[in-house]
Amino acid sequence: TAQRTFRIAAIPADGVGIEVVAAGRAVLDALATASHGRFAFDWQEFPWGCGYHAEHGRMMAEDGLDQLADFDAIYFGAVGWPTVPDHVSLWGLRLRICQSFDQWANVRPVEFLPGIRSPLRKADDTDLGWVVVRENSEGEYAGFGGRNFGGRGDRGEVAVQSAVFTEVGCERIIRFAFDLARTRSRRKVSSVTKSNAQQYGMVLWDDVFARVATDYPDVETESVLVDAMAAKFVLRPEDLSVVVASNLNADILSDLGSALAGSLGLAASANLNPERRFPSMFEPVHGSAPDIAGQGICNPLGAIGSAALMLEHLGLPDEAKAVQHAVAVTTGSGTRTRDVGGTAGTEDVTAAVIDNLAG
Ligand code: NAI
Ligand code: MG
Repeated sequence: TAQRTFRIAAIPADGVGIEVVAAGRAVLDALATASHGRFAFDWQEFPWGCGYHAEHGRMMAEDGLDQLADFDAIYFGAVGWPTVPDHVSLWGLRLRICQSFDQWANVRPVEFLPGIRSPLRKADDTDLGWVVVRENSEGEYAGFGGRNFGGRGDRGEVAVQSAVFTEVGCERIIRFAFDLARTRSRRKVSSVTKSNAQQYGMVLWDDVFARVATDYPDVETESVLVDAMAAKFVLRPEDLSVVVASNLNADILSDLGSALAGSLGLAASANLNPERRFPSMFEPVHGSAPDIAGQGICNPLGAIGSAALMLEHLGLPDEAKAVQHAVAVTTGSGTRTRDVGGTAGTEDVTAAVIDNLAG
């Protein structure tokens, strides 16, 4: 048996989630084999998702959270299928895990890989790369609100959806962003809100940001409104290092970032419970992509990059770097899926990454 065995819960869920989780597992298993007993992965796969919903009327087992609680990490694919309303599938599985396990920090690197064409012209001759840090436990996704008056008045149905900002919630994600900035060559944190229009929650966020910043005099700061930040992603991305934003704003910005880096299929993410009281969850940024699912053509690199983030979290930083290097060698040598201008299939790219691990 191995010196260290990591127990990983795999939840492929729906659509391309199934294909990309298989790809990431293959890469991790290849690493474990090459470690000659230094470490191993003990996988358990859970069949939850929209298929499970069709059979059981729920997205995951009733005691699913208890089943997951003792794993070292969760490796997730993507959830969502046209047979189940998206808000039901997302809340019933992914958001349920994130919120119950207090995975309050969602880290989403925007990485520019060799051999991948960016729609940004300046990416050709400028070193670009930043990290979106997303508040992952409250804000616009707190789930507070309701619907009422359906069919009973002149105004039709009424819905209220409230955003929740707590001082503790703001402070922990902002501190996380500053600590992350200290590990990067450019020590800078850009805080994103829409506090001119959202005058309560996001002004609290701005106040906390200004206060926490005084504890990090060595880190450059800026506060930018979200619409201006969207423009900045396109026009001055070389100015970015760590971008911290609320749940909804960071979700939108990170899709923009991954599109600028070449494809949504490339983007990796970690949902962290930094206190390690609960397992953290690693997943590609993209969804289940029903338009290309089951064809063997989806890009596995977002999921493989997420596996690298998982390795880092498990205390295997050299192996994480090896995976990231193998990914860069793979894209640079032209083995690419269709979304990034190539002709290779999911399994071809996965096999190339595994080959390049050895090199
Ligand atoms: P999506 O991310 O699934 O797809 C958007 C576009 O990107 C599509 O054209 C798709 O083909 C492409 N794409 C996505 N992943 C790709 C990959 N690995 N390789 C190549 N191309 C890729 O987002 P969409 O279409 O808005 O949502 C589809 C379903 O996924 C919905 O049910 C939605 O609720 C769910 N979803 C789930 C997420 C999660 O589980 N974390 C995140 C986002 C959406
Ligand atoms: Mg998203």
